[in-house]
Amino acid sequence: MNIYAHRGNSGFYPENTMYAFKKSIDLDICGIELDVQKTKDGILVVHHDETLGRVFDGKGSIKKITFDELRKADLNDEKLRDKSDCKIPTLEEVLKLIEPTNLTLNIEIKNNKVKYKGIEEDVVNLVKEHNMEDRVLISSFNSKSLKRISKLDENIKTAYLVGPLTFKFRNLKKVLKICKECKCTYIHPSYDVVNKEFVKEAHKKGLLVQVYTVNSITIMKKLLKLKVDGVFTNYPKIINTIVNDQ
Ligand code: G3P
Ligand code: CA
Repeated sequence: MNIYAHRGNSGFYPENTMYAFKKSIDLDICGIELDVQKTKDGILVVHHDETLGRVFDGKGSIKKITFDELRKADLNDEKLRDKSDCKIPTLEEVLKLIEPTNLTLNIEIKNNKVKYKGIEEDVVNLVKEHNMEDRVLISSFNSKSLKRISKLDENIKTAYLVGPLTFKFRNLKKVLKICKECKCTYIHPSYDVVNKEFVKEAHKKGLLVQVYTVNSITIMKKLLKLKVDGVFTNYPKIINTIVNDQ
């Protein structure tokens, strides 16, 4: 069972910070998941939301703020804001941290609500600069981004993210067809759309099924029965215990 620390070990540490990533690298896990956005001056940064405000103070779109300005933002959590490594990191900083480990880095390209021109090329180029093509897995809800990645470098593994919204407009057959068109190795469904039929049909198509975001023991036990291949969790240590106890 592949276990990924979602946004770093984010159940215990501030999500998508170097602090959280450093606290993840010694866990018994397969990898770390993070989210990538792009600043006004073209720097790839690790942040889930398209805007400041929820996790870091300030307001405005990442897309309209320069990296130097963004770096000044502090965590909203006053107890942690003065700690080192609690600023918005660049993707490059995280790649350098992961490089000497044996972890996989799942880079989720956020290119849905806000469109970032050329973000796929930027991510692939940075990964290549660090010779980490076989150490990363790139995921997205945006199938166009995934197609672009496969054209840029067919050796980089990709995953199609699917949630309840995806199934508002498409059925499972169509979703699996998109995975094939994008040359995905993985499909990453939300825990609330995955079931026996989903896992069976995805496996039939040769896809590995890794489920997000699993923060409940009950759900984890259900997923073990469904024989999914991996999970993303904010609580890797707890989920590991469930896996080891089976
Ligand atoms: O990669 C799985 C998961 O992170 C997708 O949802 O909103 O947490 O980025 P979200
Ligand atoms: Ca994510």
